[in-house]
Amino acid sequence: MEMQVKQLSHALGVELSGIDIAGEVNEVEVAAIRAAWNEHHVIVFRDVDLTPDRHIAFSRRFGALDDHASTPHDRLADYPQLLEITNIPKNGLPSQTRNTGRNWHSDYSYTNRPAAASMLYCTEKPPVGGDTMFCNMARAYDDLSDKMKGIVADLQSVYDFNLVSGVGKRDPQKIAELLKLNPPIAHPCVRIHPDSGAKAIYVSERASHFDGMTIAESAPLINFLCAHATLPENVYRHQWRVGDLVCWDNRTVMHMALGDFDQTQPRHMLRTTLQGEKSGYVVEPGEK
Ligand code: OGA
Ligand code: MN
Repeated sequence: MEMQVKQLSHALGVELSGIDIAGEVNEVEVAAIRAAWNEHHVIVFRDVDLTPDRHIAFSRRFGALDDHASTPHDRLADYPQLLEITNIPKNGLPSQTRNTGRNWHSDYSYTNRPAAASMLYCTEKPPVGGDTMFCNMARAYDDLSDKMKGIVADLQSVYDFNLVSGVGKRDPQKIAELLKLNPPIAHPCVRIHPDSGAKAIYVSERASHFDGMTIAESAPLINFLCAHATLPENVYRHQWRVGDLVCWDNRTVMHMALGDFDQTQPRHMLRTTLQGEKSGYVVEPGEK
């Protein structure tokens, strides 16, 4: 096995090559991929020919897969382990996922099982744009002052499904169902990576407030932490090609789908989600 590692930006992200991930992958290769992933947070494989079965089989080598019961409308009927993110209309209706991911977030933060990682495969893309950005939340944590590290260590971020981008553009009945499935939930504001031990800020544009504080009190700190984490020097911007499999660690990365493309052009992606640990406690919606 000869795995090549090519850095994609200064803060995070590498392209891995030399391993046929659509075929048989041995334990040594899995360990090498995992080590690169833990170190660089986002790993990219190019020119991969994945079927749903192969996508699922490769993903499973890294842990148990979520069946996406928290967002049941967006999974494939035959493959609940695959979430479909597309702007291609369904049964003559606009796709419910056409605006997915348009603000900075970590996957499934609004559930009691925030995602460990996600593996997104591009099957169709517009001629220009449709990029995705990633930022390094471990690096953002390390760059905080000791005083601020002490402050965030004491906080629980409350995630509110209402703050998922594009909620207002979805079918109201489906949204009511999703809000019921996913009430506001508080998670530690500092997430510790179970493999590497790295600490990372766990706040995003989907955090409404800190538990025990008002929305108004929390907003300046949430805004600061998001702005600090998403500074250009802490970001990798992925320009998709069909056949890319991009894998990110939701414990150390936030991401955002840019929507910088002609919406009449089809974009189609399939995602597996590696299950994280159970976490959090349900709270009341934030008070202004
Ligand atoms: C996701 C997501 C990003 C994209 O799949 O979790 O946020 O670019 N999508 O489609
Ligand atoms: Mn996402």
